[in-house]
Order: sequence, then C-alpha cells, then structure tokens
Amino acid sequence: MPVLLEEVLRELQVRQGGLYLDGTVGAAGHSEAILGCFSDTRIIGLDKDPEILMLARARLDNYGRRAQLYNMDFRQMETAMKDAGCGEVNGILLDLGVSSFQLDTGKRGFSFSHDGPLDMRMNPADTLAAEDVVNNYSREDLKDILIRYGEERQAGRIASAIVRERKIEPIRTTKRLSKIVSAVPGMGRVRSIHPATRTFQAIRIEVNDELNAIEEVLPMAVDLLTPEGRLAVISFHSLEDRIVKRAFRRMENACVCPPKLPMCICGEVPRGRVVTKRPITPDRREQEENPRSRSAKLRVFERRSTE
Ligand SMILES: C[S@@+](CC[C@H](N)C(=O)[O-])C[C@H]1O[C@@H](n2cnc3c(N)ncnc32)[C@H](O)[C@@H]1O
Repeated sequence: MPVLLEEVLRELQVRQGGLYLDGTVGAAGHSEAILGCFSDTRIIGLDKDPEILMLARARLDNYGRRAQLYNMDFRQMETAMKDAGCGEVNGILLDLGVSSFQLDTGKRGFSFSHDGPLDMRMNPADTLAAEDVVNNYSREDLKDILIRYGEERQAGRIASAIVRERKIEPIRTTKRLSKIVSAVPGMGRVRSIHPATRTFQAIRIEVNDELNAIEEVLPMAVDLLTPEGRLAVISFHSLEDRIVKRAFRRMENACVCPPKLPMCICGEVPRGRVVTKRPITPDRREQEENPRSRSAKLRVFERRSTE
C-alpha cells in the first residue's frame, strides 16, 4: 500500500483531464491511484531504477498511453516532459528514498536484514557502489558521511572498525558490514532500531547522491507546474524533511533584502505558497498496518497563480 495515499490524492487535487508527474514512480502504487481517479487523468512517471520500472510498466500496462514511463533521474523531469510533448503539469509527486521492493531484494544490497553484495545503487549503471565507499574511503571521509547522512553518534568508532576490518579482508556483503557495525562498543539496539540502521542510511545517501538530488529538483519542479499546480513531497527522515521544509520556505519568502530595509528592492517575488504549515503524517491505522510509514512526512507547495 503506498504511503499517505489518500492524503496525496487530496493534496494534489487530482482533477478530470489532469496531467501529473510522479518523479519516483517505484512500484507505481501512487501512480495507479492517480490514474484511477478519472478515466482521463494521465501520468508521466520517472524512476532511476530500471528493475523497478519494469514492475511499474507491467502494473500500468492497462492504461496504455495514459501512463508514460521513463528510466530517468527525477532531475531530468523536464526532458521527460518534452519527450511526452508537454510543457507543464497539474501536479508533481516525489515519494523519496528507497522502495520496499529495493529493500526486500537481497541482491540489491540495501538492507542489513537480507544478505547480499554491498551495492545500494538505485541505478546499476552508476559507477559508485556501497562496496567502493566502504573499502576505499578514508577513515575521515567515512566518519564524515556517517555524521552528515546518518547523524550517527558513534561515527568515529564505526569508521575505525570498518578500516580495521577491511585490512583483514575487503568488506563485500551487507551481512558482514552489519556485523562489524553491531560489534562496535556502545552500539546496542535502541528500542527496536537495528544498530546498523544509520550506517546503512548514510552509505545509501552517499551512493545515490540523494540529498543533492532533492535540493536540485524542488525549484525545478515548481517551474514545471501550471499556475496553482501542486508539488507534494513525502520524506522519510529528518535530513530529507529539513531540505524540503527550507526549500518551500525559501520559495514562499523569496525576498532577499536585508530585514532593516523599509521596502523590498530585490524584486524577487514569491513562487507560491506552502500549503502544509506542518507536515502531514500517517494516522495510527496506517502506521500499524505499514510500520515503514511511521517516519513519513508529507509537505505540499502550491505554485502561485498568474495574476
Ligand atoms: C519510496 S519509492 C516510491 C514508491 C511509489 N510511490 C509507489 O507507490 O510504489 C522511491 C522510488 O524513488 C526512486 N528514486 C529515488 N531517487 C530517485 C531519483 N533521484 N530519480 C528517480 N527516481 C528516484 C527509487 O528508485 C524508488 O523506486
């Protein structure tokens, strides 16, 4: 079940004849629901993972030309739209991070729960894989990404343990990395959270350049909306959510004049308004039915009207 589905459909204000872009189509749960709203809604769907896109194609096959799918990074959304013959869309959805399919497929190397090669690339054509990060980054660089992308308190100790262990033998599997991290002193399970959670998150973000991708795509996405079109973003951890929150605020308060100036001289105009002053989160029922939804936050931005 796609995360925050009802809320996404409501906030995107899906309308008859509308065209929507799903930048993270994944297994196409959200996309299929958008297509199901009216008999003539259309979707342009992007995913950088070719394997998951095959699942999406199979699922949306019945919709024919109403669903056009592209194996692209969402930063290439304008190119996809040009190819689909359109200049603007009524709404854009970004459901960030990894899909259940990627997490549950051991050979993709995303999860400490399934043994597999240390890969973590969403797009297998990318050159940097988790194995390169773990075996080739210096201790300082490893520590830095564990702090920046994992907010990991034991970053220094984990980086040292990785460097020590890889001297004995290169670290090639998720299981071995998970064991190395779990054995670091002070890495006991906190509530039900596995000790390697933050390390895996940090390496995955580094491998897929995830945070830069979000920074870059948000202003680009707003420019591709029709007036009053909406951008809906679901994030799954505080690093992603912070970027979304700040970018939305910047686009709403565009003026860059020093606060002391009596009037605006920069001429920057707001690009729209933040619809969600506080993020929308899954209700208790959804959290119980789908534990992965627990950390989800939905934020929505509306492009300004033309007048
Ligand atoms: C949480 S899943 C989306 C699930 C989807 N909404 C559904 O209902 O099935 C996130 C998807 O975004 C893709 N993804 C992540 N970053 C991307 C990027 N920069 N460009 C394109 N796709 C990306 C991942 O490959 C993954 O399939």
